[in-house]
Amino acid sequence: MSTPVIFGSDHAGFVLKEQLKTFVAQMGHEVVDVGTDSLSSCDYPLFAFKLCDLVLEKNCLGILICGTGMGMSMAANRRPGIRAALCANEYLARMTRLHNNANVLCLGERWVGPGLGESIAETFLKTQFEGGRHLRRIELFDTI
Ligand code: RB5
Repeated sequence: MSTPVIFGSDHAGFVLKEQLKTFVAQMGHEVVDVGTDSLSSCDYPLFAFKLCDLVLEKNCLGILICGTGMGMSMAANRRPGIRAALCANEYLARMTRLHNNANVLCLGERWVGPGLGESIAETFLKTQFEGGRHLRRIELFDTI
């Protein structure tokens, strides 16, 4: 079993979260879900912060989903050590892992289809950080 992948969503990302959990488990990852657990209206920052705390504790990757992906990415990026990236395609997912060492992928269920969502998630999880000059750059996030 490879490293865990943490999932979180609000009500507007719930359906895609459930689908991607199955897909990511089939890739061989342990899946951890911090909620939400239904379509009932809820507040996305609460799930973003829960997920970020676990990603930092386990030093692993996470996937956050809301209606647009924007609120989740804004909330997650307030946590020092979290680099959350809202990705609309596989190119962005690949580049944000290669160059930014993003540790949280954000998606919007209201615009990403199920097939594209799986493809973006797979690219994000399979791509490794390049390090080198990119490490120097992301270290500047917390030092200036
Ligand atoms: C919920 O209606 C929606 O505002 C939320 O899921 C998210 O898109 C916020 O950024």
